[in-house]
Amino acid sequence: MKKITNSLIKKILNKLIEESEVDLERLRHETNHALHTVEWLYQIEKKPAPFLVASALLHDCDRFFKRRRPKNKFTDYISYKKEHSKNSAAIAGKILKSIGKSELAKKTAQIILLHEFGGTREADLIRDCDSLAFFDKNHLDYYLKTESKEKLAKKIKFMTDRMSIKAKQILKNIR
Ligand SMILES: [Fe+2]
Ligand SMILES: [Fe+2]
Repeated sequence: MKKITNSLIKKILNKLIEESEVDLERLRHETNHALHTVEWLYQIEKKPAPFLVASALLHDCDRFFKRRRPKNKFTDYISYKKEHSKNSAAIAGKILKSIGKSELAKKTAQIILLHEFGGTREADLIRDCDSLAFFDKNHLDYYLKTESKEKLAKKIKFMTDRMSIKAKQILKNIR
């Protein structure tokens, strides 16, 4: 992991870690995934706007907290992903406001709401960075400890299918 020099990233991460409700192993995994998504954002955008950095860092932020509704209580994977996006968007807004970055809260929450499926240029970008981070640094050991093989296969398919042509091309070149 590169040295974190960006003060916005540091502020968000500190708050997220301070508020988090999960065990250390999960915290490490989620923090690494958030930072890898930010690294991909910097690879693709060069000088990303602060709301994009916040979106990349916070896109999965509900995973830093205890699950309100167990995964097996959802009828399908898509409804689980929709609730995950809604929860993460709400938490991200609160976190940004609590660190004095209210001006980033609205745009960031809008992007996070769409991060799993895309739909705007910014949401598509974060979705691609998320998928690239997943395949580049997928922490398979962690997933295999917490998910069944079938669920992991579903996740891999979902993360691949949703990528833009450009992101699929990038992925080809890093493998
Ligand atoms: Fe997500
Ligand atoms: Fe993610």
